[in-house]
Amino acid sequence: MQLTVVGTGYVGLVTGACFAEMGNEVTCVDIDERKIENLKRGILPIYEPGLETIVSGNVSAKRLQFSTSLQDALAASDVYFIAVGTPPNTDGSADLRYVLDVARDIGRYLSHYAIIVDKSTVPVGTAERVREAIAAELQARGVDIPFDVVSNPEFLKEGDAVADFMRPDRVIVGCDSDTARDRMRDLYATFMRNHERLLFMSVRAAEMTKYAANAMLATKISFINEIANLCERLDVDVESVRRGIGSDSRIGYSFIYPGCGYGGSCFPKDVKAIIRMADDCGFEPVVLKAVEARNEQQKQLLFGHIVREYGNDLKGRRFALWGLAFKPGTDDMREASSIVLLNALIAAGARVTAYDPVATQAAHAELPESWFKSGALVLANDQYQALEGADALILVTEWKPFRHPDFERMGRLLKEPRIFDGRNQYDPQRLGEAGFRYTGIGRSNIRQPE
Ligand SMILES: NC(=O)c1ccc[n+]([C@@H]2O[C@H](COP(=O)([O-])OP(=O)(O)OC[C@H]3O[C@@H](n4cnc5c(N)ncnc54)[C@H](O)[C@@H]3O)[C@@H](O)[C@H]2O)c1
Repeated sequence: MQLTVVGTGYVGLVTGACFAEMGNEVTCVDIDERKIENLKRGILPIYEPGLETIVSGNVSAKRLQFSTSLQDALAASDVYFIAVGTPPNTDGSADLRYVLDVARDIGRYLSHYAIIVDKSTVPVGTAERVREAIAAELQARGVDIPFDVVSNPEFLKEGDAVADFMRPDRVIVGCDSDTARDRMRDLYATFMRNHERLLFMSVRAAEMTKYAANAMLATKISFINEIANLCERLDVDVESVRRGIGSDSRIGYSFIYPGCGYGGSCFPKDVKAIIRMADDCGFEPVVLKAVEARNEQQKQLLFGHIVREYGNDLKGRRFALWGLAFKPGTDDMREASSIVLLNALIAAGARVTAYDPVATQAAHAELPESWFKSGALVLANDQYQALEGADALILVTEWKPFRHPDFERMGRLLKEPRIFDGRNQYDPQRLGEAGFRYTGIGRSNIRQPE
């Protein structure tokens, strides 16, 4: 099939590359000329394990190409995926400007029957607005070209995006036309040869399913964080509680790891957007508001632990920080907990030496240049270098190389053997035996060396 994917970010590039891998001919379009130029030269705009190999293989096979011209791509394709960003407006609602810009462009250039697929995460009712935007342009041109609008939200996880796309738990398609349904079934059949995981539903239900899925996952995280905070006050180790409840098959282990809050480009904005959708129809989303409030507080937790230890004035202190990305496996720092912590530490006068295996470029893009210029923030070249002479280590992102570090070496490099563990990666007992003082999330019952 001939496909066009509009938007070449985390979702668009993975979508385009994976469809090409299955033999389709794909054009990925983006308005960012530099991004497209780089992609043409084999330089990817994002870090995503396994993606580079698939992209280069399919470019060589001439199944995948990149362009800034939607008009050229439209002439050749019959299915168009809209995979542009939907960032939050100041009121929390999803900003649909980019989605509707693409819809209008499609209407301007469409020349034959086409299926337009909303892959971006968009509020209930957006497909209708996309349909109206395209129809208005066709009408202005005085042409009558049939088209269908389908909702096909994406569920990939950054850090595992290629595997998720190639072997999806399920594919959701919201659609009200038989032609579009058959075409979408054809397109996705190659990804699910063993059993059917393609779920058809109404367009509005598909749009809602994406928000409900992210809100559910965010709820699990905020729930365990709330339990962790309670454990801390009741002298209970939340890690025992986590294992105790995760073993219940009705609950399960996934997404119940206590930590310093969720970030990323999806959960924070999607929880905000679903709250906004509820507010807009006069419904009070009490659970969802609590999920968001707990997460905002959770992102402040590590700083609270640090202030408890060192006081409010952190002038003269320097901390080592491991992990800037919002989670392991990605260079994405959007809404990362590290940003909240860095802001608080630097405002209190501390200096920070941070290390992240891949988010160095993202750090320069996301964080104020003044921090780098003044030396308030220094990026280290490796995880141990960051520790040299620091008052303590703060672990924010649980990258694999941080899980089993050389504690003896760490003890020698740090000014004090002190660890604040924002992801409960370490065994406090063992760290205590190795002479470290340790603070995790919800683990206050563990005896520490004085
Ligand atoms: N990142 C994820 O893990 C993830 C997972 C599932 C769903 N989503 C959803 O997918 C959508 C895209 O997310 P993302 O993280 O890939 O975004 P992104 O910011 O990484 O990429 C969006 C791209 O769209 C391009 N763009 C904007 N307007 C355009 C236009 N008019 N024409 C062509 N290109 C245009 C931008 O230049 C950018 O490259 C969002 O709605 C997001 O909520 C994201």
